[in-house]
Amino acid sequence: MKQLAVFASGYGSNLQSILNAARRGHLGEVRVAVVVSDRPQAHALVRARRAGIPAVVVAPDPLSGSRARRRVQDRRRYDHKLLAALRPFGKIDFVCLAGFMRILGPTFVRAFRRRILNIHPALLPAFKGAHAIRDAYAYGVAVTGPTVHLVDERVDHGPIILQEAVRIRSRESLKSLEARIHRAEHRVYPQAIRLILRRKLRLVGRRVV
Ligand code: GRF
Repeated sequence: MKQLAVFASGYGSNLQSILNAARRGHLGEVRVAVVVSDRPQAHALVRARRAGIPAVVVAPDPLSGSRARRRVQDRRRYDHKLLAALRPFGKIDFVCLAGFMRILGPTFVRAFRRRILNIHPALLPAFKGAHAIRDAYAYGVAVTGPTVHLVDERVDHGPIILQEAVRIRSRESLKSLEARIHRAEHRVYPQAIRLILRRKLRLVGRRVV
């Protein structure tokens, strides 16, 4: 039985799609062992508790020191906090980031090398960052959609596992596009997790085959 940890900061609809897929047996021999959030008010925590899954809040420490030093040190400290929070749950095979709004530092990434997945709501490498749907819409692209990728030390950068194209309709509102991208996310993330858990993927350079 493989064990997943899901990290989420907000609404948790992607977490829910993973929980649903696991419950229906679509992911194979796997269970979500723990849900971690940096925000105590995240609705994702409510979803976890409803599903009977341990939900842990790992709050960042208050900021200290000069800005640049602070970023590196605080990230390292937070990485250690996350690792400590996972320890009671035994061997965690994969970490799935599902709207987790903090950048993981090298300490955490190395501890789970090639075992951290993320979902991003645009076709990477286009529209990295926290406002990807809005940015793609404002840019006027004809096609966008979610990307599931492995996490490395750079933000929105690691090898791409799956993408789903979402064609923007003429005169479509941002709200409608957001809803369709989220629906695509809820398809593509469980699919990617299933592939990785069944060891169907191999890395060739940065290509996932
Ligand atoms: C998703 O759009 C995901 O791509 C991005 O954050 C959002 C999280 O949504 N990383 P939810 O909390 O899973 O509903």
